[in-house]
Amino acid sequence: MTDQATKGEYRSGHDPRTLRDALGCFATGVTVVTCLDDSGKPAGLTVNSFTSVSLDPPLLLVCVHKMAASAEALTTASHFAVNVLQTGQQPASITFSTRVEDRFGDTPWSCGEAGAPILKDSLSVFECERYGVHDGGDHHILVGQVVKASFDASLDPLLSFRGRYRRLHFD
Ligand SMILES: Cc1cc2nc3c(=O)[nH]c(=O)nc-3n(C[C@H](O)[C@H](O)[C@H](O)COP(=O)(O)O)c2cc1C
Repeated sequence: MTDQATKGEYRSGHDPRTLRDALGCFATGVTVVTCLDDSGKPAGLTVNSFTSVSLDPPLLLVCVHKMAASAEALTTASHFAVNVLQTGQQPASITFSTRVEDRFGDTPWSCGEAGAPILKDSLSVFECERYGVHDGGDHHILVGQVVKASFDASLDPLLSFRGRYRRLHFD
């Protein structure tokens, strides 16, 4: 591989594609963020901009594009859930990041204690009460206060790195 294919440089005002490539070098897990809209219908999308914020109070954040179909529902719902995906849930990640008529149709889910949809067999789930919504340019920064967290540490995480799905490799 040449230097050109593996290296890049972005400056303010340049092609945002290069900035995306630079940001894509930060390996992350993959989540599906869900809520019920005001008519009680489940809504959600695939998100990797998930960060823990505070332990006391227990806060986390996700960034949701302002033009996302579920943006309105997620930023106004009293509760939402962050479902951290495991390797077997790659199909759910694809479904929740593409224009599928019924995203919840093919993915087993149930309502959590806080009312938000919980995807079956997730690696971990954070059920949150909406704590705040901040402006983040073309994204909303949605901050939640964790009311319940559960996990199954026997599962392996689904990862995202440089625009592709990845798995952990143990040496
Ligand atoms: C791995 C991965 C991570 C993503 N992370 C985010 C994210 O953090 N925030 C966001 O708004 N969209 C993110 N997306 C894109 C949304 O999932 C995608 O745009 C979604 O389909 C929105 O479409 P909608 O308007 O139908 O809801 C991500 C997609 C993938 C595949």
